[in-house]
Amino acid sequence: MADHILVTGGAGYIGSHACKSLQAAGYVPVTFDNLVTGWEDAVKFGPFEQGDLLNRARLNEVFAKWKPVAVMHFAALNQVGESMKEPGKYWLNNVLGSLNLIEAAQADAPFALADIYDEEIEAAAQAAYGRDYATFGFGNWQS
Ligand SMILES: NC(=O)c1ccc[n+]([C@@H]2O[C@H](COP(=O)([O-])OP(=O)(O)OC[C@H]3O[C@@H](n4cnc5c(N)ncnc54)[C@H](O)[C@@H]3O)[C@@H](O)[C@H]2O)c1
Repeated sequence: MADHILVTGGAGYIGSHACKSLQAAGYVPVTFDNLVTGWEDAVKFGPFEQGDLLNRARLNEVFAKWKPVAVMHFAALNQVGESMKEPGKYWLNNVLGSLNLIEAAQADAPFALADIYDEEIEAAAQAAYGRDYATFGFGNWQS
């Protein structure tokens, strides 16, 4: 059976394209999305699980159901102007939402978070940004 990959924000712009590519590569992308800015019609490449990153119980259910081998995280609010006017809304959704997702993933597998760190990604990001940065190396924080 094909491996499942959990794609948060899979009903959004970037996430739906990621799902298309994942399906083409032989994976089953499982979209997790609350449709705050996404479209259910865009979920064409695998199952849809409606839910909010801030709802840990719902995340737990989805991890238990699909046992994803990996998670790709695209669920976020991303309006720059609005984020200046309502920063708390963005911190809550994007930062706490991401933390919830990471904790749910760890509780389920536990994912070998450090294994996701990749030297090629690190090198590409450093080339792009031209400076040291905090690599989100899943348990392998670097600066
Ligand atoms: N669009 C771009 O050009 C671009 C460029 C660089 C980075 N990004 C980043 O990629 C990510 C996705 O951007 P996008 O353009 O696809 O945005 P989008 O609004 O089209 O997609 C985001 C998806 O996340 C979902 N979502 C938001 N909060 C959620 C929550 N709490 N729980 C569940 N689902 C939630 C929305 O319903 C939506 O489907 C963002 O982090 C954005 O900053 C986008």
